[in-house]
Amino acid sequence: MKASKGKKGLTVLFASLFLLIAGFGLYGCAKAPAPSKPAKKAAKKKAAKKKTAAKAKTAKAAKKTANAAAKTSAKPVSNNLETAAMKIINAQGCEGCHVINGKGGSIGPNLDKEGTRGHSLHWLEVQINTPKVHDSSTMMPNHDLNQAQLKTVAEYLESLK
Ligand code: HEC
Repeated sequence: MKASKGKKGLTVLFASLFLLIAGFGLYGCAKAPAPSKPAKKAAKKKAAKKKTAAKAKTAKAAKKTANAAAKTSAKPVSNNLETAAMKIINAQGCEGCHVINGKGGSIGPNLDKEGTRGHSLHWLEVQINTPKVHDSSTMMPNHDLNQAQLKTVAEYLESLK
């Protein structure tokens, strides 16, 4: 009798102990125990790494766009061609009769889209120095550009589209 009572007491003790432990366990789970310090540190490190990686990525992207911008804004060949050609065109007074680069006279045709007319570079060169070869009654005067100048102006006009 005594023994069974003791057994019962022990069972109750164990049961309550179990409940206690289980309860704590559940409580702990529900609370999602804060990560231990080293784990926290590691998480922080990871976040920092992610941040720097993201930074590097954006820096890379920025570099890429900067490069692209440089590529589009530099346009060294066409810009040089335009500068060189416009120097000759201004000196020759072509804009007295032609609109080139948005301004000029209207005696001759607008040359802002000359590249779309389908004339060859040779045709343009002939037109510039000896327009009467193409039209004997033309109002356009002869010019005396050297071969390099002719090439520059013809290539520039060809590029206007
Ligand atoms: C006195 C006016 C005058 C001047 C200056 C002049 N042109 Fe012309 N140009 C004309 C006229 C007018 C035409 C029209 C075509 C024709 O009459 O044969 C023409 C035609 C052209 C054409 C052919 C357009 C086409 O596709 O039909 C080109 C290219 C051209 N000129 C370039 C030039 C250049 C480059 C200069 C300067 C070096 C120049 N012109 C100076 C009057 C002029």
